[in-house]
Amino acid sequence: MTTLLSTSLLSEHHGLVIEKGGGAALAELPYEGVVDLFKQHGTLMFRGFEATADDFRELVQRFSEKLYFHQNPNRETISEDGAVLLVDAHRNPIPAHAEMSYCPLHPGLQWFYCVQPASSGGATTVYDGVAALDLLAKETRDLFEEKRLTWRLPFATGPEHQERVFGTSDRAELDRLFAEFDDFTYDFDDAGNLNWSYTVSAVPQAPYIDSRTLCNSYLGSGAIVSFEDGSPIPQHCRWDALDATEKVAVDLEWEVGDIVMIDNKRVMHGRRAFEDPNRRVAAMLSMPNF
Ligand SMILES: [Fe+2]
Repeated sequence: MTTLLSTSLLSEHHGLVIEKGGGAALAELPYEGVVDLFKQHGTLMFRGFEATADDFRELVQRFSEKLYFHQNPNRETISEDGAVLLVDAHRNPIPAHAEMSYCPLHPGLQWFYCVQPASSGGATTVYDGVAALDLLAKETRDLFEEKRLTWRLPFATGPEHQERVFGTSDRAELDRLFAEFDDFTYDFDDAGNLNWSYTVSAVPQAPYIDSRTLCNSYLGSGAIVSFEDGSPIPQHCRWDALDATEKVAVDLEWEVGDIVMIDNKRVMHGRRAFEDPNRRVAAMLSMPNF
């Protein structure tokens, strides 16, 4: 099934590189073969295909049943329909996080596409949450297994922002959508602004393998978090999670045209610092069609 695929390990920790290597073109890669490797490895890098932004968009579409639009309105788009966005314009390092895992829209797939690497630094990092959980200090692991996390946004979501994030600001439609979410409570103020809270495990079940995974937004999110009983998360949990994730970090040293497909419900991602203002990496988020 995977004979058309030329592969090598991405790192000793996890992940797989699928190379062109004289084999099939990007659009001709066998669907089932790619899906099988993705479920097993958690991160796939597609290298050597000289992918354009349109190729990137097509690959994402081929493995997705729905695209998500990022909640940050300040990102530059590089595709005509606005679905392919550059990652945020800052240059600071970003610790391990799973995109939008603080809310029930949590997309299954995180995608990156390298338009232009930084001249130095600026690697995107990936962290297999299954391996990180094995290395997490027992005290923190026990706490995370016992008590889920409750998330809130620091600001209420106005109607215009509701439209962009949820596809509507119509109250009845939002009520129908939110009824599908587990462990989600919400209310609207008199001006129609939405406040919500969402409770979810910091160490959920991974989607395609029989294991829990350290996969959450605890280390890198502007959202407000506590344990579900309202108690604060002890500071040692942060250091323990930073230690465990750094031990399994894999630096993606970008080349022009690289595409990376990440299991956003198992593997976290982040970024190393850089100075080069010309670094351009695009991201997409989607729900898998498998
Ligand atoms: Fe991110």
